Amino acid sequence: MKKRILGKQNSLTVSEIGMGCMGFSHGYGPGPGRNESIQLIRTAYDLGCTFFDTAEGYAAGENERLVGEAIKPFRHEVILATKLHIPEEGDLETAIRKHLDDSLFRLGCDYVDLYYQHRVNKNIPVEEVAGVMGKLIDEGKIRGWGQSQASNSEIRRAHAVTPITAIQSEYSLMERMFEKDVLPACRELGIGFVPFSPLGAGFLSGRYTSKDIYTGDDVRRVITRFSKDNMDANQPLLDLLHRFAHEKGATPAQISLAWMLHKWDFLVPIPGMRKAERIRENFGSADVVLTHEEFGRLEAELARMNIYGNRTDEDIAKLRDMI
Ligand SMILES: NC(=O)c1ccc[n+]([C@@H]2O[C@H](COP(=O)([O-])OP(=O)(O)OC[C@H]3O[C@@H](n4cnc5c(N)ncnc54)[C@H](OP(=O)(O)O)[C@@H]3O)[C@@H](O)[C@H]2O)c1
Repeated sequence: MKKRILGKQNSLTVSEIGMGCMGFSHGYGPGPGRNESIQLIRTAYDLGCTFFDTAEGYAAGENERLVGEAIKPFRHEVILATKLHIPEEGDLETAIRKHLDDSLFRLGCDYVDLYYQHRVNKNIPVEEVAGVMGKLIDEGKIRGWGQSQASNSEIRRAHAVTPITAIQSEYSLMERMFEKDVLPACRELGIGFVPFSPLGAGFLSGRYTSKDIYTGDDVRRVITRFSKDNMDANQPLLDLLHRFAHEKGATPAQISLAWMLHKWDFLVPIPGMRKAERIRENFGSADVVLTHEEFGRLEAELARMNIYGNRTDEDIAKLRDMI
């Protein structure tokens, strides 16, 4: 697969498309089981993927254990990203170090390539977090750092203390709120951007209908993007993707990823997928190159379209009472 560089300082070279590993143990209902998940992660590597994403918060650390075991044979050939939630009590530096050490233990590694603050805490100054991350980089415990769902000003303030390698936030044809100022800020400052849910939690593949039933901790039970009304209302977006897919000999998922790869050259999406054919399909997006004219036509049609529903942390929190 083609490569991209995340971040100008503390930069990391990764495959143009990475693998979001969360769904193997968290957020999308029952997964394929541990052994099959490990095989699927190794299949992704065999297909050229060198960027794997997990977090301490996915299934209370189980996802880190799984990913650590899966990538063990090629740990030094890949970029491994994980994330932490910083508690608001106690000494900040001690807390971050403890979370990192616990993640490293579960991952079976002695360094993490990219360490994200999973959500910015409103009561902990980003500058202080950045300061600790800078020390961890100097010590070689992490190679780079980032924030998730951060605002333009949070990014700028933190970046001034310790240059950020990448921002990981939701971005897709269905969620474009960060186009306004965050993506331009990343371009200006030389920060990579890693879109999560780049396929709109799968909707953009065009393979889901409002008749599908989701169980367990599957976020599609609660996010409004998957309500029947919103799925019906977003059908024109799928129709557009099907038209472009037909024209390009590709699939709607591939057009969705090719669109963002064309639009921002410092961006590396991390779709989540738990079937070998979907891994092949999504990585195949790197070979679907839109021409300038095709991209312009797609953007013009998108500009005329409304998108309904979204995926919010508040809605996902409702799952706690349902499981
Ligand atoms: N920073 C954060 O707060 C945050 C939040 C959410 C996610 N993330 C990270 O971002 C990664 C990606 O997010 P996501 O999993 O929501 O991304 P996504 O790729 O938009 O959605 C994943 C869903 O789409 C389905 N899917 C993917 N490709 C498909 C295809 N070609 N055809 C049909 N269905 C397809 C998957 O199905 P199957 O899995 O069943 O195959 C899964 O249900 C996560 O794994 C995680 O590492 C981070």
